[in-house]
Amino acid sequence: MPFSDYKTALVTGASSGIGAAIVERFRRENIEVHAIARSGDALKALAERTKCIAHVIDVTDRAALAQLASTIPFDILVNNAGVDRPKKFLDADEEDIDLLVDVNLRAVLHICRLIVPGMVARDRGHVINISSIAGNYNFGGNSTYHAVKAGVAMLSNQLRLDAFGKRVRVTEICPGRVATEIFNHVHGNDSSVRERFIDGFELPQAADIAEAIAFAIAAPVAVNIGHMEITPTLQVMGGLQTARPQASETEEPKR
Ligand SMILES: NC(=O)c1ccc[n+]([C@@H]2O[C@H](COP(=O)([O-])OP(=O)(O)OC[C@H]3O[C@@H](n4cnc5c(N)ncnc54)[C@H](OP(=O)(O)O)[C@@H]3O)[C@@H](O)[C@H]2O)c1
Repeated sequence: MPFSDYKTALVTGASSGIGAAIVERFRRENIEVHAIARSGDALKALAERTKCIAHVIDVTDRAALAQLASTIPFDILVNNAGVDRPKKFLDADEEDIDLLVDVNLRAVLHICRLIVPGMVARDRGHVINISSIAGNYNFGGNSTYHAVKAGVAMLSNQLRLDAFGKRVRVTEICPGRVATEIFNHVHGNDSSVRERFIDGFELPQAADIAEAIAFAIAAPVAVNIGHMEITPTLQVMGGLQTARPQASETEEPKR
């Protein structure tokens, strides 16, 4: 489907990283892009650079989102806003669990509730959900993040079932590590964070993810690219661990 068949897009989490790159990419196709985030200054700079329409909205603000969704018939919806609070579940904080559920999953569900029925009624639309490899694979210390991203993966499948018979496409994007500010947003701003997660690695850039999304949108309308896992070439997932009990805990292995 040529981009020109779509007129409007809503992109959440547009003030930095992948979201900002998606806004830039869509604007190159002359899509009217509505960009959402909480950071007004960053959104203003993005709007000046790209001529997108900035909305300083927290994705947990359902009233503001309902107002926006009721005024614009969105053709493309990108659920991108996301946060992480890496921690083993054994050490999980009440606030962190609520934040990740509220931003990474609850908001996605409500935005889809507000926008996808209109797409179905118009027989036209494309939902892009940015989940993560964390929705498909487990790695230590990110427990709530895994749970909510897996929820986004299942929601993406379910949207296709519930929109069945209409030309509403749903694409789940599962990035591995991408060189964005997310690591500073999660771990703080000191230079050791960049050294730990970005410097010296060969990583996809935010623009690479935006380009993959553009490919899915530009595919013929008969083609739904349902799932894209995009990782660094030099990153793999999976593994197997088998622990021996510590000698002090038991004399003989128990079975
Ligand atoms: N980078 C990676 O390695 C990676 C890997 C896998 C998946 N992802 C996923 O990709 C998405 C984008 O991540 P990124 O790397 O681009 O991260 P980022 O640079 O930290 O950007 C996150 C964006 O989400 C917005 N956001 C956070 N909370 C929000 C809220 N309550 N309301 C509105 N906007 C909110 C932030 O804007 P404000 O703070 O201004 O609100 C920011 O624009 C996330 O869903 C993330 O989980 C990233």
